[in-house]
Amino acid sequence: MVAMPPESSTKPNEEKLLTQLRGLLRLKPYLWPEGNWAFKFRTFAAICLTILSKVLAVGSPFLFGWAVDATARALGSGQSWGAIWIGVIGYVLGYGALKLLSVILTEGREYIFAPVAQFAQRSVATATFAHMHNLSLRYHLEKRTGGLSRIIERGVRSIDFLFRFLLFNIGPTFIELIMAAIAFWLAYNGYFSVIAIVIVVSYVAFTVMTTEWRLKFRREMNRKDTEAAGKAVDSLLNYETVKYFGAEDFETGRYDQAMAGYQKAAIRSRTSLATVNIGQSFLMNLGLVLMMALAAYEIVNGRMSIGDITAVTLIMTQLYRPLNILGFAYREIKQALTDMEKMFTLMEQDPEVQDIAAATELAEVKGRIEFDQVRFHYDEDRPILKDVSFAIETGQTVAVVGPTGAGKSTLSRILFRFYNLAGGCVLIDGQNINDLTQASVRRAIGIVPQDTVMFNDSIGYNIAYARPGASQADIERAAKDAQIHDFIAALPKGYDTLVGERGLKLSGGEKQRVAIARTLLKDPAILILDEATSALDSATERDIQAALERASESRTTLVIAHRLSTIERADLILVMDEGRIVERGTHKALLGQGGLYSALWKRQQETETA
Ligand SMILES: Nc1ncnc2c1ncn2[C@@H]1O[C@H](COP(=O)(O)OP(=O)(O)O)[C@@H](O)[C@H]1O
Ligand SMILES: [Mg+2]
Repeated sequence: MVAMPPESSTKPNEEKLLTQLRGLLRLKPYLWPEGNWAFKFRTFAAICLTILSKVLAVGSPFLFGWAVDATARALGSGQSWGAIWIGVIGYVLGYGALKLLSVILTEGREYIFAPVAQFAQRSVATATFAHMHNLSLRYHLEKRTGGLSRIIERGVRSIDFLFRFLLFNIGPTFIELIMAAIAFWLAYNGYFSVIAIVIVVSYVAFTVMTTEWRLKFRREMNRKDTEAAGKAVDSLLNYETVKYFGAEDFETGRYDQAMAGYQKAAIRSRTSLATVNIGQSFLMNLGLVLMMALAAYEIVNGRMSIGDITAVTLIMTQLYRPLNILGFAYREIKQALTDMEKMFTLMEQDPEVQDIAAATELAEVKGRIEFDQVRFHYDEDRPILKDVSFAIETGQTVAVVGPTGAGKSTLSRILFRFYNLAGGCVLIDGQNINDLTQASVRRAIGIVPQDTVMFNDSIGYNIAYARPGASQADIERAAKDAQIHDFIAALPKGYDTLVGERGLKLSGGEKQRVAIARTLLKDPAILILDEATSALDSATERDIQAALERASESRTTLVIAHRLSTIERADLILVMDEGRIVERGTHKALLGQGGLYSALWKRQQETETA
């Protein structure tokens, strides 16, 4: 990972900006893709077109100047209007044609470069998205999902912005400045070049400095705006409370005060902008006046013509045009560089759980599972599993019971290899899962999780998610086994019914049955049921129980149970408490021991018969 300066960097601003500008180099593989000659050509051509269009932009005013001179000459020599026309028309048309060509070249660049820019945005977005899915569960639990997708969104937008402004607007303006300086120097004299360069450079420095200075007013303005809006919303939400206490005037006063804060910040922001505008205008016009004075001096001395002064003015005003938005562009470019840096920092984040280089595929799964002295914690200071050892023989069913928080669901997360262990190992068919690819391990296991979340799509889509390309008949068979087919069929839209965000339009029990259906459809060698029927009423649970038992007959099954009556027939029952297996045995044996299990059993029997 590249060390990034923290947000509130103590580094000087300029240094941070330089680091960020260096970050632009990371875009190179997209603009200059290895082996993709077509794209390399496009990028090259786009740069050539930009330079060429700037050459034309700087060159065309000279034609206009010549047109002015030709007119003046013609008028002075008392020629007929027709002759004047012919003399002048060539230059004027030439000027118009060059200007038009310059625009065509600039816009033509879009045709050539748009595919490259879009390819870069898409590639970066897709790579970041894929990387997010590669990052481990812990990372995702700690980050807000909305925040992650915003990083992609903003990062991609920043690339577009940087191309548009840095590469094709601000950057070329400096090329134009250099060309203008060279043209002045060649055509007239070096003083013009010096004035142009000094003025533009001071303009840029002034704009950058004052924009930095203004940033704090803008931030303050935004902060006050948020504050006022927050107060308004809070007050209106409490409409009734306000009425109970007759506090309308109080609320209005508070709102007005917040608005006053905004007003103050907004005034400073506006007036500071005016100051900046005045300063910018002063510099620009100072440049023009100096040039005019110099030109007038040259005319008096017969070294320049009226046409030349026209050309000089045109070139300078042309140069000034893109500088008008420099303050805005500077602010936005800075933001874009920060957004891009965030995205690339995310890209460089290493996944916590990684396949080893020599990882092999778990093939022809038989399904024997062994936990060997597994120790595990989510956070270092709080051990969750303490020396957990057990084995599930191929085709057997092992049940895990115990109080909530004992670490039961953690067993399934470890089997899926969402986390690395603190000690011990987990074996499938005698192979340490750390030596296998994560993908092949996950392919072999099907889980009905404790909390099922669904994609905001149709029920059919959510079931079929287990096996892309499953036929409708397969989907319905799975749904029938999960006792959910009749419910779905009775819905007006059947399998096309949308389940809402995270599946919120389904009840807990319906969601659980959809989750069971999709796991049955996956048809895995190893089955994990994590309190898979906890949200169902006893009658439905009994119905599904049969299907689940049938499903678990032919495969290795780990049942995490909540109602003990559902696991009576398990080959082995593990009782967990505080991260340890405290009892193990069959239902009968455990009842005989008179320990935690038999106590739990008695309590459940009582509540069920009560
Ligand atoms: N991502 C996590 N980060 C930190 N602690 C966690 C995390 N997930 C679960 N825990 C804690 O680990 C313990 C075991 O959780 P879990 O295995 O889900 O228990 P259960 O036996 O109820 O399924 C709980 O105390 C829980 O608070
Ligand atoms: Mg659990």
